[in-house]
Formats: sequence, C-alpha cells, structure tokens
Amino acid sequence: MDQTDIRILADADELSRVAAEDFSRLSNEAVEAKGRFAVALSGGSTPSGVYELLANPKAHFLAHVPWNKVHVFWGDERHVPPDHSESNYQVAREALLSRVPIPPENIHRIPAENPDASSAAKEYAKALSQFFLLRAGQFPRFDLILLGMGPDGHTASLFPGTTAVFEETSLVVAPWIEKFKAFRITLTPPVLNHAACVIFLVSGEEKAETLRAVLQGPYQPERLPAQLLRPVNGRLLWMVDRAAARLLRR
Ligand code: 6PG
Repeated sequence: MDQTDIRILADADELSRVAAEDFSRLSNEAVEAKGRFAVALSGGSTPSGVYELLANPKAHFLAHVPWNKVHVFWGDERHVPPDHSESNYQVAREALLSRVPIPPENIHRIPAENPDASSAAKEYAKALSQFFLLRAGQFPRFDLILLGMGPDGHTASLFPGTTAVFEETSLVVAPWIEKFKAFRITLTPPVLNHAACVIFLVSGEEKAETLRAVLQGPYQPERLPAQLLRPVNGRLLWMVDRAAARLLRR
C-alpha cells in the first residue's frame, strides 16, 4: 500500500479550495496522459464546497479543467430518482454539472430510479465495464475518487454491519441500510482500492472522534468501513480540517 497522506487544513473553505486545486491538477494530468479523466464524486454535504468552487467563474478552475474530457461517475447513490433532493446526482448537478461545459454523455449517473436496487447496481456495473473496457474479474481504475466519512465511520455507502463491507468481487452492490430503512447503491471496496487517487474530505468537530479511531485506532473495518481504503497501487489522501483533526495524535 502506498503511503497515506493527511493534510490538515484551517477550515472547510480551505479544504474545498485545496481539493478543487487537486481536482484541477489531476484532471489535466490524466487528460495529458491518456486523453480523459474519470472521477467518482462523493455524496453528502462536505464535497458541495468543492463542487461550487469548481463551477465558480470567479475561481480559475472553471477555465482550467478540461471539462470536455472529464467523465463523472458516483461512488454511491441513494435509492431515489435523479430529481429527488436526496439524490447525490441531483446535488452534484445543482452545484457543478449544470454550471460547467461537460458533455451530457460524460455524466454516468447511477440509475437509482430503478425500483429494484440490485438491478440498478447491475446496470451501473455494466456501464463501468463498458466504459473501462473490463474483462471478467478486472476492476475499473478511476483517476480520482472523492469520498466522505460519516460519524459512524461509513464511506460511500459501505456502512458498518453490512455485507457490502466484505464484498471482494462485484463492482457495485445494493445493500439494505437498516437505519435508513432504505437501499443504497455503492461501489465496492476493491473498486475504491483500484483508484489511482482517493481523496477523503472530512470536516467538522462531529467527525473528530471517528477520524481518530479510523486513522489511529485498531484496524476494524467491519466497524469503521473507511479503514478499508488502502489503494493497491494508488495514493490515499485525507483532507481534513482542524476541527475534524482535533483529536489526532501528531
Ligand atoms: C452519501 C455519501 C456518504 C457521505 C458521508 C459524509 O451518499 O451520503 O456518499 O458516504 O460521504 O455520509 O457525509 P457529509 O459529508 O455530509 O458529512
């Protein structure tokens, strides 16, 4: 496993700015190297600051990111239609995708409107296989995967106590999440760990205890699924603000 970097930023605004800079740099490097940038966006509220900044005409990212060569996927999705307020696609569309010149065919959302969540997972897995030209048993290699971390240590929709945490072969699964009384659709640990770069975005005091347990406590991925992230041949970067990093031993 490559080294895990932890960057402690002053606050949520600086975290968003630094993450947007990494997004811009990585997109240009990928397009230069192979003509495209494949990124999986995270749901939740923390990444919204990054999305807003990337789309802000006053910031320099809008002009610098090669949007016509950017392909956007999602790390996970709620089992709701794309126009639902809880849809991770809807959040990214509002904050970013409707405000940048990305071709519609480059937006590969999870078909969570499918009434059967596991069929949605299968559809998304097929779309990944086709886009990344995968043979059986291969995993897609995203150039960048953005992830958040919940106070319970979940990431994407890999929640403690679900079998999704132990999935080693499928690309996408649709676990039932008891506490939400709902299904989720999520990339699996091997897909996340095949990325060239994974960036966690963690902000706020309420994450401090969990962040310390994830980064400095015993390895218990069934209890703290964010610990599953150990890219096999890639970079793992934790971007955290001071409030979230408060309990970390330096
Ligand atoms: C989701 C996300 C989820 C999120 C964490 C952190 O669908 O909700 O993928 O994994 O990243 O819950 O969310 P916040 O950034 O809002 O704290």
